[in-house]
Amino acid sequence: MFEFSHKPVLLREVIDMLALKEGMTVIDGTLGGGGHSAEILRIIGKSGKLIGIDRDNDALEFCKKKFAGCESFIPVKANYSDMKEVCRELGVEHVDAILLDLGVSSYQLDNVERGFSYMHDCALDMRMDTEQKLTAYDVVNNMSAEELSKIIWEYGEDRFSRRIAEFIVKSRPINTTFELNRAIEAAIPAKFRREGPHPSKRTYQAIRIYVNNELEPLENTIKDAVSLLKPSGRLAIISFHSLEARAVKTTMKYLESDCVCPKQSLICTCNKIQEVKILTKKPITASDAELEDNPRARSAELRVCEKTDCNSEKRSLK
Ligand SMILES: C[S@@+](CC[C@H](N)C(=O)[O-])C[C@H]1O[C@@H](n2cnc3c(N)ncnc32)[C@H](O)[C@@H]1O
Repeated sequence: MFEFSHKPVLLREVIDMLALKEGMTVIDGTLGGGGHSAEILRIIGKSGKLIGIDRDNDALEFCKKKFAGCESFIPVKANYSDMKEVCRELGVEHVDAILLDLGVSSYQLDNVERGFSYMHDCALDMRMDTEQKLTAYDVVNNMSAEELSKIIWEYGEDRFSRRIAEFIVKSRPINTTFELNRAIEAAIPAKFRREGPHPSKRTYQAIRIYVNNELEPLENTIKDAVSLLKPSGRLAIISFHSLEARAVKTTMKYLESDCVCPKQSLICTCNKIQEVKILTKKPITASDAELEDNPRARSAELRVCEKTDCNSEKRSLK
């Protein structure tokens, strides 16, 4: 079996910002290789509880072995967007801290069988949850050029989205990642192929986001996470690309605001209350030392918010 390996990103920073203490109840919504979870478990100790969620069976199996015998560890196969349901089933009403380390793990990217990477020649797959039906093969071979172009533009922000979609459709059937790479490369003018990142990077990101429905549930997941926190509980989110970062920033800002009335109204009638305080006015990024050790931390941005006491009185005048 392909060895599970993933270096936790911004580990020290995440642990410091979550302000963990012995006995706390924590959710790691993106367990992966358990890199962050190992440190969380060490701090919360035997009297604490860590609910480790992942939708990838390989990640869960790996962590079950890694934390075998640790009674504080509760592994759960689920989508983090269902964390409220997960807590309800476990009889957990509120938690002290929640971590979401978004995106794919190095294991998923590097394991040829998972079909995520344009660097390895493999069957197109890209599912985080291998029990899910929709695969990258279905997207690449069955969608119309218009639909593909929309996905590549919205989730990959590739300016050649329309051409790439047309070339993909013309090259069907496409069974492998290298066949997909050839279609993408043929679509991108030579001058642009030579500059910047790998020509397939944006299209792969887009297909992966679509296959795993990574963006749409994010806003509600953040709201649910905050509703699960105790007052002063903290939510930490690591994002890896601008679309994730935007969703995290916008939702945290919305939760921080105490009024969403139109600017021109004199009296506040919206009933919105401030639910969190953002603790990272600017996102925390990896140090030079971490980047040297783990280049995949390059695009990581950590944002953290703390739940406020929502029972505090709401101002009625602007
Ligand atoms: C970047 S890795 C996390 C790595 C982990 N923090 C560590 O230190 O080992 C992201 C993990 O989250 C999982 N994941 C991504 N989206 C998910 C979702 N919506 N629900 C549950 N798990 C998800 C992926 O399967 C992957 O294992």
